[in-house]
Amino acid sequence: MKVIITGASGVLGSAVREAFKSTPHQVLALSNTRTGDGLVPLDLTNTQEVEKVFTEYKPNWVIHCAAERRPDVAEKDPQGAQKLNVNVSGHLASLAKSLKYTLVYISTDYVFDGNSPPYTPSAKTNPLQLYGRTKRDGEEAVLSVDGAKVIVLRVPVLYGPAPKNSDSAVNILLDVVQDQSGKQYKMDHYATRYPTNVVDIANFLVRLSEFKKTATVPPILHYSAAEPFTKYEMCLVFAKILNLPHGHIVPDSEAPKGDSATTRPKDCQLYTKETEDLGVEGGLGLSLFEEWWTEYLRK
Ligand SMILES: NC(=O)c1ccc[n+]([C@@H]2O[C@H](COP(=O)([O-])OP(=O)(O)OC[C@H]3O[C@@H](n4cnc5c(N)ncnc54)[C@H](OP(=O)(O)O)[C@@H]3O)[C@@H](O)[C@H]2O)c1
Repeated sequence: MKVIITGASGVLGSAVREAFKSTPHQVLALSNTRTGDGLVPLDLTNTQEVEKVFTEYKPNWVIHCAAERRPDVAEKDPQGAQKLNVNVSGHLASLAKSLKYTLVYISTDYVFDGNSPPYTPSAKTNPLQLYGRTKRDGEEAVLSVDGAKVIVLRVPVLYGPAPKNSDSAVNILLDVVQDQSGKQYKMDHYATRYPTNVVDIANFLVRLSEFKKTATVPPILHYSAAEPFTKYEMCLVFAKILNLPHGHIVPDSEAPKGDSATTRPKDCQLYTKETEDLGVEGGLGLSLFEEWWTEYLRK
C-alpha cells in the first residue's frame, strides 16, 4: 500500500510517519518549511503542484495532518487559516475521488462548544473560535465531495514525542513546571481536557488503514483518551514525576470572560464508543498519561 502523510514534520504527522516505518507500506512524508530526514516539502496551497505529486505517487491512503492548529495564529491570519484548513482539505477530497484513495482528515474536539459533553460523532457542531470554525468547515468541505472515501478523525489536545516542548500545548507545561526561577504562572483549572498521545493515534491509524472492513467505517470517528485533566492537573502530574515543587503554579478556576471565553470551551469530551465498536484490531490502544510520561521522561 502507498500512503501520503501531510504535515509529516508536525507533532502528529511525525508520529504517524514513525508508526508506518514498522509496516511494509510505502510512505511519502510531506512537510512545508521543514526539510531533511526524507521529508518532501510541498506547499499544499499550491493546487497544481499537489495534483502533480499526488497523481504521480498514486496513493491508496492520504493521512492529512497539515493544518494551522494554533488558535492565536489563525485569529491573526483568518484567510491563511481558511485556505489551509478548509480549501486545501476540500482539494485533497476531490483528488481522493479522482485518484481513488481514502482520505483521513484530522479534526478537533474544538468543533464543539464544550457545553454538553460527551459529544457523539453526529452531535451538532458549534465551534467557539475561528480555529474550530475552520476545522469544522474543513470537515464539511471533505464530507461534501460525493463519491470520495473520506474519514474525519476528531482528536482532542495532543501530546507525545516532540522536538520542542512548545510544539504541544501539553508538553509545554513541562517547561512551566521546570521553571523554578520564582516566576508565577496562572494555570487553567476550568477547562477539562483529555490529553491524547500522538503515538497511540498513529498506531491506530496504521491499524485502521489495514482494517479489512473499511467499507463499514463511518465518515466521522472520534479518538480520545479517557482520563480528564485540567492544565493545572497536568502540571501536578509533571511536578510529581519530576519531583519538583509546584507552588509557583496557581490554579485558575474562573469561567473565562472576553477573548479567553472562546479559546477555553469547558469540556469537549469526545464519545468514542462507535470507534471502539468498529472491530479494528487492538481497539483504541490508549496509553495512560502519568504512566507514559513517567517512562518517557526517564529516558
Ligand atoms: N495539536 C493539538 O493539540 C491538536 C488537537 C486537536 C486536533 N489537532 C489537529 O491535528 C492535526 C495535526 O496537528 P499538529 O499538532 O501535529 O500540527 P503541527 O505540529 O502544528 O504541524 C502542522 C503541520 O502542517 C504543515 N503545514 C503548515 N502549512 C502548510 C502548507 N501550506 N503546506 C503544507 N504543509 C503545511 C507544517 O509543515 P512545516 O512545519 O514543515 O512548515 C507541519 O508539518 C491538525 O489537523 C490539527 O488541527 C491538533
